[in-house]
Amino acid sequence: MGILPILALLALAVVTISNVGATELDISFYEFSCPDALAIVQRGVHSAMQEDRRMPASLLRLHFHDCFVNGCDGSNLLDDRPGFVGEKTATPNLNSARGFNVIDKIKQQLEEICPETVSCADIVAIAARDSVFLSGGPFWDVELGRRDALTTSKNAATNAIPRPTFNVPQLIASFNAVGLDEKDVVSLSGSHTIGKARCTSFQARLYNQGNSGRPDPSLERSYLAELQHRCPQNGDGNVTSPLDPCTPAVFDNQYYKDVMAGRGLLLSDQVLDTTPGTTLQLVEAYAHDQGKFFHDFAASMLKMSSHHVLSSNHGEVRRNCRIPNAENH
Ligand code: HEM
Ligand SMILES: *[C@@H]1O[C@H](CO)[C@@H](O)[C@H](O)[C@H]1NC(C)=O
Repeated sequence: MGILPILALLALAVVTISNVGATELDISFYEFSCPDALAIVQRGVHSAMQEDRRMPASLLRLHFHDCFVNGCDGSNLLDDRPGFVGEKTATPNLNSARGFNVIDKIKQQLEEICPETVSCADIVAIAARDSVFLSGGPFWDVELGRRDALTTSKNAATNAIPRPTFNVPQLIASFNAVGLDEKDVVSLSGSHTIGKARCTSFQARLYNQGNSGRPDPSLERSYLAELQHRCPQNGDGNVTSPLDPCTPAVFDNQYYKDVMAGRGLLLSDQVLDTTPGTTLQLVEAYAHDQGKFFHDFAASMLKMSSHHVLSSNHGEVRRNCRIPNAENH
């Protein structure tokens, strides 16, 4: 069999799966079963961000990492336990993913008023939307009715989550695998208008980009100097820097202006503007028009959030987001 028939079959499978998700989710899913669900999640996100300005970014990223691995099914919330290794120790998450306690707290409140009703995957989807909105970004109606996975694997997370060293074709391929396209790569990368990254995520750019023995020439000089100071060679890889140094806690289109000025923190941010083609055009469009960015961002989030979800009687509604119900004694 040639490659074309295989690709056609794959495309068919992807379309079928995403249709299942898209048709079974509903913005009023909890209207009768848990009418206060949305308000409780929003209150939880709001109070968490009073304590920690970075928390909205961390919650938004949790939803991204959930959706890219077997669909948005709360799989990345599962703790390791004897005989089970989940996603939390996979490279993209280890010493990096955060916000699990905030989700736990919201889940506990929801279990008190409507037990075993609101899935962990939906809590994370709502929290991501509220995180964006409460940081100054767009609002959209979250489609609901996802159910929680019974299991997952560390490998799935390692393979499916795009890496900060990816070039544009690699970024597009990883997004294509979850039903997203080139435009979604650029709009959703705008999430990096909030939050932080560790030195280890961009260290190579500062000293030895692509084994050239030199820094990445696309880095603006004073920004490079600043980052080299923060992240010395053989320094602490856990030290963090804002992804958008200008307005680190505001959800705006400053990220695209940063990238255009050679101030993209991750290589995967900078390549969007240094690779000729559609991504470059979109970076410039979003840098000039925040309304267009907000519109496209919300549309891409809805796409990402509905891809390949578990619905109807698949999976379960976990009582504790860290443990499948069958293991929760
Ligand atoms: C385009 C491919 C992407 C790559 C390669 C990527 C990579 C990364 C990396 C390496 C970090 C820093 C992690 C660390 O050093 O601890 C990060 C942070 C972050 N990412 Fe992405 N990301 C991508 C797309 C996305 C998407 C689609 C979203 C959301 C929809 C997102 C939201 C975030 C947020 C909000 C942070 C900051 C988290 C915090 O401060 O806790 N990213 N990303
Ligand atoms: C980062 O911190 C974690 C946990 O505190 C530690 O295990 C790890 O070795 C640190 N990583 C680096 C690169 O220093």
